[in-house]
Amino acid sequence: MVGSDLKEELIAYLKSISFNGKIAVISDSNVAGLYMGDFRRALTDAGLTVVTMEFPAGEESKTLKTYEIIIKFLLMNKMGRNDIVIALGGGVTGDLTGFAAATYMRGIRYIMIPTTLLSMVDSSVGGKTAVDMPEGKNLVGTFYQPIAVFEDISYLNTLDEKIFMQGMAEVIKTGILKGKDLLNLISDYLDERKSDTLEDIIFECVLTKGEYVSEDEFDKGKRKMLNLGHTIGHAVESCSRYTLSHGEAVAIGLNQITMISEGIEKMPHEEGNLIRNILSKTGLGLDIPDNISQDMLIDAISYDKKCDHDKIDIIVIRSIGDCSVKRVAIDDLKAYVR
Ligand code: GLY
Repeated sequence: MVGSDLKEELIAYLKSISFNGKIAVISDSNVAGLYMGDFRRALTDAGLTVVTMEFPAGEESKTLKTYEIIIKFLLMNKMGRNDIVIALGGGVTGDLTGFAAATYMRGIRYIMIPTTLLSMVDSSVGGKTAVDMPEGKNLVGTFYQPIAVFEDISYLNTLDEKIFMQGMAEVIKTGILKGKDLLNLISDYLDERKSDTLEDIIFECVLTKGEYVSEDEFDKGKRKMLNLGHTIGHAVESCSRYTLSHGEAVAIGLNQITMISEGIEKMPHEEGNLIRNILSKTGLGLDIPDNISQDMLIDAISYDKKCDHDKIDIIVIRSIGDCSVKRVAIDDLKAYVR
């Protein structure tokens, strides 16, 4: 469900599934400070039994240690198989809580309530759950679908502009996959900043992601298209030692894949210009930072799991709304990635 201030809708949904158990709301320290009190009150006023816990905000919390703390919290509160866990927060909260829900007593129902633009259009939809390991991100996890996702855009009112725009990179990615209508809507929003337009965009992004996921839940085929801009994006992110956020790296990756697609796929330049123009409206940097050399980047790309010897599968843009997987020689990327 997409809308603004959806607590009543959440309560109505819980009634509609005849839920009368206990709810555990998991959040991080930032979101809990802003929203947990009101959220809890709304549910308890409706007669629901609610327990809450928070963990320190930040990617550093996405560990097996925090996972264990969540599991112990659920055990301590005697959560049973008929109870429900709610993830209230951004991508870290959703990934961690989803993984705890997937494994607690072999699976307990959970609901996603994403509070960042990035998690609204990406991680809250599709059931990817995970924690990081010292060896890398998202190395332990499962596919486990939430029973519902409530995309409440009123949470975006307190989101820092820069973090909001990092989420916009994934929104633009979805626009390129979906087609010009969505991309033009995104462009209008970036010019006029109307909240109704934002709601429409989020709705379209969720629908689009839902289509890819429902055709390929376990990421064996079509879902991989959602990685548009991510091969170079992930490489830039890891070469920056994660000083660049995922969204910042995806914006750079989208700019690069646009150039590559104009080169090897002959995507029309006017379409490339349209994409570059929309990306530039986010204010995010679009060039590979000077301290990341071509060698570092090519090296990082070769470690990508989509890499097979000296070739890699990347998602290219034939034209806006028409993307495809293409196997390219890593050497051929050198002409573009600099
Ligand atoms: N973030 C891409 C996916 O969920 O498949």
